[in-house]
Amino acid sequence: MIAVLFGTRPEFIKLAPVLSNLKLRKIPFILIHSGQHYSPELDQQIIEDLNLPKPDYNLGIGSASHAHQTGKIMMGVEEILKKEEPKMLVVHGDTNTMLAGSLAAVKLHIPIAHVEAGLRSFDNNMPEEINRIITDRISRLLFTPTEVTKLNLLQEGIDKNKIFVTGNTVVDALIDHLPLTKKRSTLEKFSLEEDNYILVTAHRAENVDNISHLKKLISLLEFAQKIMNKKIIWPIHPHTKKQLMDNKILLSFDIKVIPPTDYLDMLSLINSCSLVLTDSGGIQEEAYILKKWLITLRNSTERPETLTANFLVDLDKNKLEEAINTFKSGKVLWKENVFGKGNAGRLIVKHIEDFLKINNV
Ligand code: UD1
Repeated sequence: MIAVLFGTRPEFIKLAPVLSNLKLRKIPFILIHSGQHYSPELDQQIIEDLNLPKPDYNLGIGSASHAHQTGKIMMGVEEILKKEEPKMLVVHGDTNTMLAGSLAAVKLHIPIAHVEAGLRSFDNNMPEEINRIITDRISRLLFTPTEVTKLNLLQEGIDKNKIFVTGNTVVDALIDHLPLTKKRSTLEKFSLEEDNYILVTAHRAENVDNISHLKKLISLLEFAQKIMNKKIIWPIHPHTKKQLMDNKILLSFDIKVIPPTDYLDMLSLINSCSLVLTDSGGIQEEAYILKKWLITLRNSTERPETLTANFLVDLDKNKLEEAINTFKSGKVLWKENVFGKGNAGRLIVKHIEDFLKINNV
C-alpha cells in the first residue's frame, strides 16, 4: 500500500488524475488530507467537483505561521506513516503540506514520489520555492512536467535515473473536466458575456500581505479595467478578502468580487474571458493551454514554458499596458502540448508501479 498526501486546492485538482489511475491499476492507497485548506470553497466544493475518494485521514491542521503549520502537519503525517507503513508517499507541488509530508517520510525511510517536480522561480523569497527545492532534494521519484523542469533538477545534481518527464496532470484534469463545463451556465450565473471580461486571481503573500503591494495591486486592476474597457471578475481567496477588509480597501470601479468558484466554473471563466490576470501557478498553465491572453502579476515564474504568451508585469502599469498592446498586435505564440498531452496521471502511476516492483515492495 502507498500513501497520497494533499491539503490545498491545487493539490486536489492535480492529484485527481493520479488517484484515478491508481484505482485503475488497482494499486492500494490511503489518502491523507492535511486540512491546510478548509474553507468550503477551497476544500469540500473542489473535492466534490472532482469526485475524489473520501480521505482516510484528515489532520484538520488549518492556517498558522509557516513553521507552526509545517510542524503540525509533520507530526500528524508521521503518526499516520508509522501506523500504516506505506511503501511510498506521493506528494504534489510546492505547498507546506508537501514539504511537511516529505520531511516526515524521509526520516522514516519511506520513499517520496514528487509530482510536479523541478519547478523553479529562482526567487527564494517565495515560501513555495523553498518547499520545492527541499522536497526535490529528498525525493526518490521526481515527475517533472517538462524538459525544462528536468534540466533544473539535473543542474542541481539530482540523479537522472530518479527523474521522469511525464507532462503535467493539470492537462489530464482539464481534458477530463472541460466538456462538463458546457452543461453549466457559468457566464449567466455571474452576468458575464463571452470574451467580454477580465478574470483576476491573486493570493500570493508577495502581493497581498504587504499593504502597499496590495494597494498597488488594486490600482493596477483599476488601470487594466480602464484600458481594456471590460468588466473584471475576481473570485477572491479568503485570505485576500480578509486583507482587503482589514485594511479597509474599497473597490470603486467596474469589478465584481465573488467567492472562490468550484473547479468547473473556474475552467469556464478562464475559457471564456478576454484576459487572465493572475499570480497563481496553475491558472498560468490552464490559461496558456486554453490559448488565452495571460498576464502574470509577479516578476518571476516557475513556468517559463508559458513565456511565449505570458507576460510578467509584477504590479507595474507600464508593463501591463505594453503586454496588452503586444497581445493586440497578435505577436504572440501559444505552443502546443508544452505541458503534455493529458496522459501524465497514467505515466506517473506506471513509474510508481515499476518502482514498487523493482524494489520488491
Ligand atoms: C497555498 C500554497 C500555495 C498554493 C495555494 C493555492 C503554501 C506555502 N502555499 O497558499 O503554494 O498556490 O495554497 O491556493 O503552502 N485561508 C483561508 N481558508 C483556507 C485556507 C487559507 O481563509 O481554507 C487563509 C488564511 O488566512 C491563511 C491564508 O489564507 O492564513 C494563507 O493560507 P495558506 O494555506 O498558508 O496559503 P495559500 O495562500 O492558500
